[in-house]
Amino acid sequence: MRGRYKKWAKPYLDDHPDLVLVSLDPSSPFFQVDSLALEIGAGKGDFVLQMAKKYPNTHFLALERDLSVCGIMAKKIEEAEVPNIRVMNADFDRIHDSFQGLRFQTIYLNFSDPWPKKRHEKRRLTTSDRLTKMAKLLVPNGEIRVKTDNDILYAFTLEQKTDPSLTMVTNDANYVFDEATDAMSEYERNFRSQGKSIHRIVYRKIQ
Ligand SMILES: C[S@@+](CC[C@H](N)C(=O)[O-])C[C@H]1O[C@@H](n2cnc3c(N)ncnc32)[C@H](O)[C@@H]1O
Repeated sequence: MRGRYKKWAKPYLDDHPDLVLVSLDPSSPFFQVDSLALEIGAGKGDFVLQMAKKYPNTHFLALERDLSVCGIMAKKIEEAEVPNIRVMNADFDRIHDSFQGLRFQTIYLNFSDPWPKKRHEKRRLTTSDRLTKMAKLLVPNGEIRVKTDNDILYAFTLEQKTDPSLTMVTNDANYVFDEATDAMSEYERNFRSQGKSIHRIVYRKIQ
């Protein structure tokens, strides 16, 4: 998602240090909970906001690399006064090293950019290399949950050789939305209203 440039986004993010993290300190009180979750490419925050309300004891970190989109998300979260979310305007590729002191129960990849051209496939968030980096950030039995409408990204993800610590526990080509454990972003709502199948893959860390 590339938002139209929002001039207010940078000053807004700078002005909200309690919500918007510029660096990660695993010893900070926000991360001292039993359950941590990470969404990579959180977009405008629809998913993370609903999930944070559903799971008030889980602390969510919402990572979004686009400055303007991140600003929109941060504003929504601040207005909703949901306390268990922190936002970071950063790219997973650049920041994952600084996540090493953290372990997540769940990492969500929702409707990640599909990069449909073959020559761009290395940019997809579900390359074997990136999934391996994500696996290292999970607690034992932690999960990476992938949802996409995109057939190319879905097939590509299934082909990836995953880290031996990960096992695929769900591969659902036509995922029926589960209101009890999941949330729907505007993206997913639009795709579903167009009659598109949503594909879902879940990996679990087994060692
Ligand atoms: C298509 S949007 C989906 C947004 C949201 N997950 C949803 O379901 O509404 C994908 C988002 O991922 C972000 N993104 C892509 N690669 C990223 C990365 N490496 N690190 C952080 N954000 C990323 C993009 O900027 C974009 O906003």
